[in-house]
This record gives sequence, C-alpha cells and structure tokens, in this order.
Amino acid sequence: MRTKIVAGNWKMNKTHSETESLLTELSAKRPDTTAEIIVAPTFVNLAAAREQLSDSIIQVAAQNMHFAENGAYTGEISADMLLDIGVETVILGHSERRAHFGETDDLLAKKVKTALNKNMRIIFCFGEELEDRKSGNHFSVVESQLKNALFDLAATAWKGIVLAYEPVWAIGTGETASPEQAQEMHAFIRKAIADNYDGATANSVSILYGGSVKPNNAEDIFSKPDVDGGLIGGASLNCGDFIAIVKAI
Ligand code: PGA
Repeated sequence: MRTKIVAGNWKMNKTHSETESLLTELSAKRPDTTAEIIVAPTFVNLAAAREQLSDSIIQVAAQNMHFAENGAYTGEISADMLLDIGVETVILGHSERRAHFGETDDLLAKKVKTALNKNMRIIFCFGEELEDRKSGNHFSVVESQLKNALFDLAATAWKGIVLAYEPVWAIGTGETASPEQAQEMHAFIRKAIADNYDGATANSVSILYGGSVKPNNAEDIFSKPDVDGGLIGGASLNCGDFIAIVKAI
C-alpha cells in the first residue's frame, strides 16, 4: 500500500533561528495522522533540524545532492554527508534546479542512481511548462522526463521513489492545476509505470502533486484517487497553512 505524504519544500527560506521556531511550532501543532510529514529546510540547517526532530514523526529531507561519492565539486553536498546527519530522503529534479541550475534528465538519472545505491529515498520532481500544456504536449513531456531519469531502474528500486508531479506553470504562481487536471496526469503517470513495469509497482508508488497547494484547495486535490499527497512550497513556510494542508490529507 502506498503512503500518503505531505512534504514542505522550504527552498532558500528560513534562517537557523527561524527554522528552529517553525519546527517547534509544527511539532506542537501537528495533528495525529497516518500520513507522513516531511520538511526540507536548507542545507545549513539540516543537521540542527534533524537533531530538533529526533523524537518526532516529522521527517527531514534535503532539497538536492550531488551524484559523486566525494571529491572536487566545490559547493556541493554528497549522499554520505546527508546520511551521516540522519537525512535519508532527498528531493531531486525540482523545476527550479532544472531551470536555474541546468539540471538535465541525464544528470538526474545519475543522482537517482547514487541516492538509490545509498538506500536513500527520493522525492523525484518533474512536470511540464506552460507552453507544453498549451500545445497539448504535457503528457509526452512528462513521460519523457520519467523515461529518461527513471524507467531504466529495476522494478525493485521503485520502493525508494516518491514522485512529485509539479506543473511548472503552477509553482509559486498561485495558479493551481484543477483537481481534475491533477488526477488526469497522476492516472497517466501510474499507467506509464504499469506499462513499463507492472500494476503492482505502479500501485505502490506515492504520487504527490505540487504547485500552489494552499489550505483552500488541498482537500479537493488530495481527494482524487491517484493523488497521494503534496509537495508544498510557499504554504509550507507558515505553520498554520502547512498544518491545515496536513489536516486536509
Ligand atoms: P509552491 O511550490 O507550493 O510555492 O507553488 C511548490 C514547489 O515548488 O515544490
């Protein structure tokens, strides 16, 4: 059975002290839920966040990592560095990494393999641009993103993967995919996995929706059968909003 997940991608927000206070507030206010709750603060605050949440069910994820084991990669962070501080989940392929830092499907395929070799869990992001949707190419774009980075993996590797469908036109714009658009794409993604692997693998993968999820739209989006939760940007920076979204699941 796939799990329900609400993950907060804090991006380049929150200082050390702001991280500490938001986590204190989240820990105090989080509802009892069987859904997984994940937060992804920035790298410099990961160790402290992990420490602060050591007795909590709130999990900590990194927003990125390098594919290499170690070496001359100034400014980069390795899987071992994350694991050493107890961070076992990493977000890969976020559209901001693709757009602003030149991350390609080929690079992401390498990162995915490294993370899986290290037994890390991946939240793999992908999604079409506005032009792709306008021209009706959104399904083929999404399928090729998955194919290029993930579809040569063994079926067993998929237990380490959570997918996050994030249409680029909905990220940080206030414009959300409608629940129907999200469901349509999530069902397409699940079918693509079933076609490339098998139904059991497809049914075991959690597929999150991301892109302007807010307290007022979360419940409708999460109510769709193939939507297993959300990857939340802006609304995860505010305790009340994030908790309301967790409650919506
Ligand atoms: P948003 O960001 O919720 O602010 O649109 C989502 C994301 O980038 O993961």
